[in-house]
Amino acid sequence: MTNQAPVAWVTGGTGGIGSAICRSLAADGYQVVAGYHNPEKAKKWLEAQKADGYDNIVLSGIDLTDYDACVAGVKEISEAHGPVSVLVNCAGITRDGTMKKMTPEQWHEVIDTNLNSVFNTCRSVIEGMLENGYGRIINISSINGRKGQFGQVNYAAAKAGMHGLTMSLAQETATKGITVNTVSPGYIATDMINNIPEKVREAIRETIPVKRYGTPEEIARLVTFLADKQSGFITGANVDINGGQFMG
Ligand code: CAA
Repeated sequence: MTNQAPVAWVTGGTGGIGSAICRSLAADGYQVVAGYHNPEKAKKWLEAQKADGYDNIVLSGIDLTDYDACVAGVKEISEAHGPVSVLVNCAGITRDGTMKKMTPEQWHEVIDTNLNSVFNTCRSVIEGMLENGYGRIINISSINGRKGQFGQVNYAAAKAGMHGLTMSLAQETATKGITVNTVSPGYIATDMINNIPEKVREAIRETIPVKRYGTPEEIARLVTFLADKQSGFITGANVDINGGQFMG
């Protein structure tokens, strides 16, 4: 059964930035499908969204590192709610460490979760978007994919790779009503930032010209803008949103 509301699939939807994106898209009238990794956390998260009046959000626990699971998951979403019109790739992890200490597992885990997943999700939705002649894909990258970061060879490589995918897919779909863009947040006040050792975190904050971390809502506002039908002339772009920490 299809639903009138256009469907937005937000991977990593229950995370810090993902939550704000889900709420913003839901407020904009989308049927939001929030991707999660931890079922217990997701269940509580959904209850909290409902308590706040967001009735148009559902959960989806697709393993994004598994191509077949993504294809099957997108089929399920489409059958239940209609075709995916907006895909926001927001799922991501860090496994920080300097190159001399990084294990192959830390490398592969980050590349699989942060980059290979983006191929899997885009590949799973692209035929439907082409068929419908419409789509919005927004890849949440990072300031550290733009400038590199001490201790993040894995994360920076994945996040930079994401934008290469964005620019290429944007060219392939430009005449088909589909836009593909990258958003590169700087340091945003979420659990991911809280995991950085406090001394390092404080030193980083000092390098941000606006002298504060960003908020998830500030990222969500930009994503919702790019997801809009009227944003059709923006494609293949990277939009930095980092309080002036990196200007390039
Ligand atoms: N620049 C230069 N030198 C640095 C440095 C830096 N930024 N940070 C640490 N060092 C130096 C230390 O002073 C120390 O020097 P000495 O050996 O001369 O004393 C040395 O590097 C430590 O090296 P180690 O390999 O022993 O590193 P470590 O195990 O102590 O920890 C680290 C390294 C885990 C990378 C730690 O520095 C860290 O967590 N850094 C934060 C990384 C970061 O910014 N992550 C972002 C997470 S949030 C995110 O990713 C979201 C987003 O998109 C923005």
